[in-house]
Parts: sequence; C-alpha cells; structure tokens
Amino acid sequence: MKKVGIDDISIYVPPLYLDYKDFAEARHLDPAKLEHGLGVKQMAITDSDQDPACMAANACLRLLEKNDLKPSDIGRIYLATESSIDESKAMNSYVIGMLEQIYGDGSFSHCGGIECKFACVSGSYAIYDNTNWIRAMENDNKAAIVIVSDVAKYEMGSSGEYTQGAGALAMLIKEDPRIISFDPKVTSTVIRNEYDFYRPFARKTPIVNGQYSNLAYLIQVKKAMMEYERKSLESGLIKLGKDECVLDHIDLIAVHLPYAKMGKNALAYLLRHEWRNLSRWKEIISLIGMDEPKTTDNLGTIESILEDTEFMNKDKEFNKRFMETPHYKREFVNKLESSLIASSIIGNLYTGSLYMGFRSELEYEYKKGRDLAGLRVGFASYGSGASAMVFSGVISDEYKEVVKIMNLENEIGKRRRLSVEEYVHLHKDWRSIDEPIISKHNEFVLIKVGGSREGFREYIYSN
Ligand code: HMG
Repeated sequence: MKKVGIDDISIYVPPLYLDYKDFAEARHLDPAKLEHGLGVKQMAITDSDQDPACMAANACLRLLEKNDLKPSDIGRIYLATESSIDESKAMNSYVIGMLEQIYGDGSFSHCGGIECKFACVSGSYAIYDNTNWIRAMENDNKAAIVIVSDVAKYEMGSSGEYTQGAGALAMLIKEDPRIISFDPKVTSTVIRNEYDFYRPFARKTPIVNGQYSNLAYLIQVKKAMMEYERKSLESGLIKLGKDECVLDHIDLIAVHLPYAKMGKNALAYLLRHEWRNLSRWKEIISLIGMDEPKTTDNLGTIESILEDTEFMNKDKEFNKRFMETPHYKREFVNKLESSLIASSIIGNLYTGSLYMGFRSELEYEYKKGRDLAGLRVGFASYGSGASAMVFSGVISDEYKEVVKIMNLENEIGKRRRLSVEEYVHLHKDWRSIDEPIISKHNEFVLIKVGGSREGFREYIYSN
C-alpha cells in the first residue's frame, strides 16, 4: 500500500494573548490552579479583525509559500472547525476566496473540499478521508490540504473560560510524506450521543458540563484505544512479547489537549487500563501504597460514576500517586511531555489541539537530539458530542528536512499581552472590526461583515 500522511505543517496563532496571572487575579483564582492544575499559562485570543476563516487562510498561505506549491499541485482543501461562521456556506470557500486574492481568480477552482464538523475530532476525520483519497489513487497526482481552525471561546465567568485559545494549522497530506505515514487498516473510531459540550444555533459560546466532559473524553478514548489494539494485533502491525501491552510499542503519543494537564491525565488513564493485568502492576501498586479503587455503582453511567464521590476521591488520590511513580514518569517524559509545550502557551485550539501537540512534540523531541526516524506515533483524537478516533503512523526518514526548521516561537511571532479590560472588550465584541488592537501585515484580515449584503464577509490581504 502507498505511504500517505503529513508532509508539512504550518501554523497561525493570533498575535494577542491573555496571561494566566492577570486572568487569575481578575477572577480571584489561585494562579497555581491554572499553571499546575490545568497547565495553562497563556491563552491566544483573536483580535477584532480576525475570525477562524482568516486564521485558516493565513495558515494555508504559509504552507503553500513554504513549500513553493502552486494551486495546480493541490486537489482538495478541507477545513475542519466547530467555530462555523455560516450555517450553510463552507469555511473553506472563504479560504479559497482569500487565497485567490494572491494566486488569481479561479486558480483553485479545480479543487474539491468541504467544511467538516464534529467538535474537536473532525480534523482527524478530514485527514483520514484525504489519506484514503490518495491511497485510492483518486487524487490525480495532487496533494490535499487539511486545515483545522477554531476559536475556543467560553462564557465569561464560567470554568471553561480558563481553557480558551485560538489558532489554525494547515497540513499537507501526500504520498511519500516527509513527516509521517499513517498505518493502514488500524484507525479506530467510537461514537455516542453525548451532551458533554455543545453549542446550539446562534449561541457564541458552548454549553459545557465540565467534569462530565473530562470523563466522557477518557472513556471514549479508551474505547477507541481498545479497538485500535484489536486491529493492530489482528493485522500483525504490532506483535506483543511476553508481558507486554500495545502502548509498549508506541514511541510517542499525541492526544487531544483542551488544556495541557488533560494530556497527562489521559496518558495515566490509558496506562492504568493497559498495565492492570501485567506483572509490572504489582510493583506499581506497592509503590502507590493503596489498591486501585473500584466503583460500587452498578449503573456504570458517567453521571453515576461522578456521583459516587467516595470512589471519585479515592480514584483521584490513586491517580495522583500513580503519576508520581517512576513507571508513569518515564512514559510521560519519553512519549508525551514535549507535546504539552505549545498547548500551555496557546490554549485550546479545538480541532487543532491534537495536531499542535504533535507538531510541538516533533520540534522539542528533535531539539533534545532524539532520532525520530521510524518511531511509531499513537494519536488519540476526541470530539465532544462525542466521538474518539485512535490511529497511528511512523515518522519518515526525511523528517529532519521539515522538523529542523520548526520554531514555535518564531512561527507564533511577536505577541501582545492583553490587559483584562482589553480581553473583556474583545470577548464581548465591543471592539469594531476596523479598530483592531494590532494592525496586521502580510496576512489576511476581516474588514467587513454584513452591511448592504446580509451575512457577507469581506477579507483583504493586509500588506
Ligand atoms: P474546574 O472544575 O474548575 O477545575 O475546571 P477542577 O476543580 O477540576 O481543577 C482542575 C485541576 O486543578 C485539578 O487537578 C485540581 O486538583 C487542580 P486534577 O484533578 O485534574 O489532577 N487544582 C489545583 N492545582 C494547584 N493549585 C490549586 C488548585 N486548585 C485545583 N490551587 C474544567 C476544569 C476542565 C472542568 C473546566 O475548565 C472546563 O469546563 N473546561 C471546558 C471543557 C473542557 O475543556 N473539557 C475537557 C474534556 S472535553 C474536550 O476535551 C472537548 C473540548 O475540547 C471540546 C470539543 O471537543 O469540541 C472541550
């Protein structure tokens, strides 16, 4: 089968951020809760002349320019988002409109593509579908671009407010990719009707059941992981030695990161599940000094587990101690830690969070001097509502060509720390489009919404 996967990644992060210390002071919160409890240090915030469509176009233009690509090299532009700006018109059409300001009217008219929605997981579905489009040789020798772009905006004063963020990534999906080739026939999905997080029509912020969403995420990802294990063992992709588990054969892990600490918690949850029946568990339990708690609840629903406070408290304590064992710490440092760096300074990117984590992992593992060629990366994608997708890929021999020039700080660019008052004005849409906090250069900006043509959005490339 053809090797297909991600050849390059470009990012766009808005030039404004809210610092956790300023935010904590304004909301009378302990800053340690944000920094250590959630792993949040800075949250990227969009300016008044920005929206998910122009961030997406900026990420895409960077990808095209960096790789010297012509419109004729691209056959599909997919855009995954949960921050839709229109109920019908797809966001990728706005992006194509913006790109054609640079490449010429009609230059992308041969392309196909749609806007994809399933909360934070839809970018993974878009990548999977485009990977298969190329594997099936439907692509006429062209590559696909998958863009993920979102503004994670929560109600002011809610517990979600400290997990905001914004940004876009554009990924080039092609044959013989320089970064990673996805493993065929092991991608595993689960889906279930959930109300952990949803945004009914016309609402600007989601309705969130925070603690419920954390548990829904863990359970769905674990289920998809079990399916991935079945497929990877049955297909022979992974062969277990004595007393081994599938995660022993995954060298790096990238998980959906609504906030950095969720990644740490997800890894602990998966490892506990994987290791429970292996001989190493005995030693771990003796280090933890308590047995793994079991819920007495018979219903087995997320609500009933959360209501079993005795179990929840014991489990929290057990998990905390588990995360202090050298066994967990080794896995965390080797497989996940570098992916959290970007998340802690950008915040939740919804569809982009998993891929920003992967990109962060590539850059910072490379900077450690680790040879990444041939390593297997396991991806765990989660979207509220709810669906999870677990899949894997192998890092290409050519990865250095792309990864050696990755520089998160430079690619984010110079940012301005917002005062809480400025943030509140932006959050409440009190600042008009023509009064942005920062004037932008060499990027697309939004200049008008509506006017004589209802719902019409105008963008320009600001020189
Ligand atoms: P919360 O309920 O206020 O936080 O909000 P908490 O009380 O659970 O505390 C969080 C952590 O901080 C805990 O650590 C505390 O112990 C610790 P943990 O138990 O995880 O180890 N803590 C402290 N640490 C140090 N010093 C202190 C201190 N105080 C407490 N003083 C919540 C957390 C995530 C619920 C909230 O921010 C929220 O609702 N966020 C939005 C929803 C969300 O992000 N859910 C995540 C899973 S669902 C998902 O990922 C999908 C999503 O991305 C959307 C999509 O798919 O489209 C959201």
